[in-house]
Amino acid sequence: MDTDAALKQIEAAQSLEALQSLKVQYLGKNGLLTQQMKTLGSLSPEERKERGRQLNEAKSRLEGALEAREAALREKALQEQLEKEALDVSLPGYAFPSGGLHLISQIQQELLDIFRSMGHSVVEGPEVESEFFNFDGVNMPEWHPARDMQDTFWLQKPEHFTIRGPFGEDVGDLGGALLRTHTSPMQVRYMIQHTPPFKIVVPGRVFRYEQTDASHEAMFFQLEGLVVGPDITMADLKGAITELARGLFGAEAKVRFQPTFFPFVEPGAQFAMWWAERERWLELGGSGMVHPNVFKAVNDYREKMGLPRAYEGMTGWAFGFGIERLALLRYGIPDIRYFYQQNRLSFLRQFRN
Ligand code: FA5
Repeated sequence: MDTDAALKQIEAAQSLEALQSLKVQYLGKNGLLTQQMKTLGSLSPEERKERGRQLNEAKSRLEGALEAREAALREKALQEQLEKEALDVSLPGYAFPSGGLHLISQIQQELLDIFRSMGHSVVEGPEVESEFFNFDGVNMPEWHPARDMQDTFWLQKPEHFTIRGPFGEDVGDLGGALLRTHTSPMQVRYMIQHTPPFKIVVPGRVFRYEQTDASHEAMFFQLEGLVVGPDITMADLKGAITELARGLFGAEAKVRFQPTFFPFVEPGAQFAMWWAERERWLELGGSGMVHPNVFKAVNDYREKMGLPRAYEGMTGWAFGFGIERLALLRYGIPDIRYFYQQNRLSFLRQFRN
């Protein structure tokens, strides 16, 4: 057996399998070296000693070489695997496309925060409404010309759908079904169900059969405010609206009230805020002291439900304004239709929160 040739083979082995078969070939049960060991017995004592020493030395060299080569091959395999599965942790990750709140939702949250800080609760009402809560209850009976100011989507009385009052009662006999034209019906619903004093705000979608243009949508959002108690005055209303203006535009904000007519308030005032950057007044919405006929409608309904007439001797203020209009002026957006009709991401993303 040529030990040097065997060592060269071992060093040249390219895989663990090849190495294993070399090990078998030389050191296995029937390996070349093992067979030579077996011939030792036939030699004379001197020869055996010398030959034995040579064979043992060859054996330990082969074993050492096999071990070293195995370690080298294992190391090489590991390196290859590491390279193949390398993970560059310095690469930027994949950006997950994240959503955001629509600008109108953001402003709505901001408005609700301002009113929460003044102690108002936030309540919401149904979008499919009964004629009674949308009109009659807020002092707009069928013959009232003010109904014409709010072009209405009337609904066919749905057979499978019941419009319910504040206590879950069927109010189908109180008039037609419609998409609410303002958030004011929630004034009536809330008062029927609760006793004063209280402070609420009501955000929500409203619908009008409008010819849409740059400042008119057929669907938009309003925010309604209502405060009722024994001694609520117009001064409280002005204070709250002034706080709203400060919350929106800072301590320098100015508010203007001008007399106007809404059937459900007396006196009524439209209010505007000073838009300092643009040096102009920003017309926001309507407000006023709750009309006695609204309290009467609420008391009558309560009585019908077996509840005390809790609103006698009470006073209150209310307001309602359009949230999109506020956004238009605040951000200099030229057209209200950008919000929903066009709904372009390139527009909406400018107001990502
Ligand atoms: C009302 O809807 C009254 N309910 C507001 C109110 C509540 C007055 C409580 C007094 C007491 P008006 O129809 O003016 O009022 O609408 C209020 C606001 O909604 C407007 O000032 C405007 O900001 C917004 N608005 C009205 N119509 C549209 C429309 N088509 N598109 C967008 N915004 C509108």
